[in-house]
Amino acid sequence: MCSIIGIVTNNHAQVAPKLVKSLSRMEYRGYDSVGLATITNTGISVKKGVGKVSQVNGYLNLASMEGFVGIGHTRWATHGGVTDHNAHPHSCCTNDIAVVHNGIIENYQSLKQELTKTGHTFRSETDTEVIAHLLEQFYHNTGSIKKAMMETVSRIQGSFAFVAMFMDNTLACARLDEPLVIGIADGACYASSDVLGFLEYTDQAIFLDNRDIAIIDSTNGIDIFNFEGEKVVRNPTKVAWELADANKGKFAHYTIKEIFEQRETIRSSVTAQDAFSLKRFCDLLLDARKVIITGSGTSYHTSLIASMVGSRYLKKHFEPVMASEFRYNIDSIDSDTTLVAISQSGETADVLNAVKLAKNAGAKILSIVNVPSSSLARIADVSLCTNCGPEIGVAATKSFTGQLALVYATIDRASGGKIGFDAAAASDAVARVLQNSLKVEALVKDKMARVNDIYLLGRSLHFPIALEGALKMKELAYIHAEGMPAGELKHGPLALMDKNVYVFVLNPSDKTYTDTLGSVHEVKARGAKIIGISDVSSDLYDAMIKIPKMDSDILYPLLEVIPLQIFSYHLALQNNVDPDFPRNLAKSVTVR
Ligand code: F6R
Repeated sequence: MCSIIGIVTNNHAQVAPKLVKSLSRMEYRGYDSVGLATITNTGISVKKGVGKVSQVNGYLNLASMEGFVGIGHTRWATHGGVTDHNAHPHSCCTNDIAVVHNGIIENYQSLKQELTKTGHTFRSETDTEVIAHLLEQFYHNTGSIKKAMMETVSRIQGSFAFVAMFMDNTLACARLDEPLVIGIADGACYASSDVLGFLEYTDQAIFLDNRDIAIIDSTNGIDIFNFEGEKVVRNPTKVAWELADANKGKFAHYTIKEIFEQRETIRSSVTAQDAFSLKRFCDLLLDARKVIITGSGTSYHTSLIASMVGSRYLKKHFEPVMASEFRYNIDSIDSDTTLVAISQSGETADVLNAVKLAKNAGAKILSIVNVPSSSLARIADVSLCTNCGPEIGVAATKSFTGQLALVYATIDRASGGKIGFDAAAASDAVARVLQNSLKVEALVKDKMARVNDIYLLGRSLHFPIALEGALKMKELAYIHAEGMPAGELKHGPLALMDKNVYVFVLNPSDKTYTDTLGSVHEVKARGAKIIGISDVSSDLYDAMIKIPKMDSDILYPLLEVIPLQIFSYHLALQNNVDPDFPRNLAKSVTVR
């Protein structure tokens, strides 16, 4: 979603170039408009406009703005259209306070009415602007930034992380249910949505908790207190990610770089686990009467596979529930329930909401995240990290296989080794599948020039991969794609099959093989073009991507998804879509 960044320097360095760079690094979170505000000799200067960071910087020359203290924002519109006026930062009437915000202020309309009645003039349609006017009112009444912040957070409802800039070179920030992290470097402090906003300058970070307020100024340093004004101590920690992980390296896009990184990340997602947490994680799975697994989008697809594998090897019922549907299905949750929440970002609002509901009902919470400092990691009873490094491409790729590998490793351990999961062997097999990359690229160029409809078929463990492949094709290439259980074809979808459609069939030689081949006959008879993903060739396939034969069927999802990711990437390029930044989507979906 939106990204916020604030920088205070004490060495008289210009902050605008750094603000622009930080926003570019976090642009994957949301990106329809961009803005900066800095403190100059004549007051607060604001420049903002619609477009990507590089575009807006190009036409407004953001990086040349003067000032040693500043804030910046990339906006993913929620309230108010995509316009220059609605872009952040937003200023108060007296132009001596400017604010950037991520989240939603649910009671903004009543606050806006109230503030308008007391003489405030609004210049945007956003919910955010009320924060600037509330701060103005309370700051001018009390003369205290701390009091103004406390009063303001007590009036706003919803979810927020915001940074406010005051004319005395102070930044004040607060968070509730949206991420906010402070970076501490020599000569500068950063308040950012994401460590990527400052990783270039420091790896020392303070992760603010919900209901924290921090005041940062160049002379007094950082003062942190809660919404009630009581001082809290938050110690800096070292960020595990390296800056190199957040660069494209020799690749044209983050997405393809991250697809190729799966050679290593499947291994690292499993090997870097802390033994104590792993044991507790397994114990809470084994002790539960009922295990529910939740996630959104790609992480929900992991939940589907995890439920099948958990039920099979731990001999208890695992139930997958889509995080956005969770709140309608909570009646059976109690203190004998363990909820496993899976999320790359650890900030997805639907997932966090599911966790809160389950926690209130007494359930234990386990989480699998890729961002170790995320909200989800911190509210879970036990959290394991997939250790994939930053995933910048908006579409989840390496985090998906990392989640699967970690799920397999934990269920293997909890079952006393019944799976015999070998992450190194799985990584090697994935590396072999990646060697098909050029073949996939050629197939897209030669045979898929005018594809409008794609169907993906699979049974059992392969059905979630059909869903995942369809999701990748929709979001990356803007192609209509549907994943379906192959056995359901005859109950309706067969009516859609004709010579214009492409059908991907996930059909390795496991117990689903013969039945799925039967489904292939059915679609072949209707003229569809068939691309098989299998370890076994068949004349029925118009084209085929061969994957290695594996000892256990649970390993196939890790392999099958790789060509589907690569197909989606090349279909995106063919359709002139930037695969790293598909339209209307954000990496971290922090609204419900
Ligand atoms: C798909 C994709 C999204 C995310 C979903 C959940 O490629 O990226 O569907 O999987 O928004 O995000 P996390 O895993 O961060 O909770």
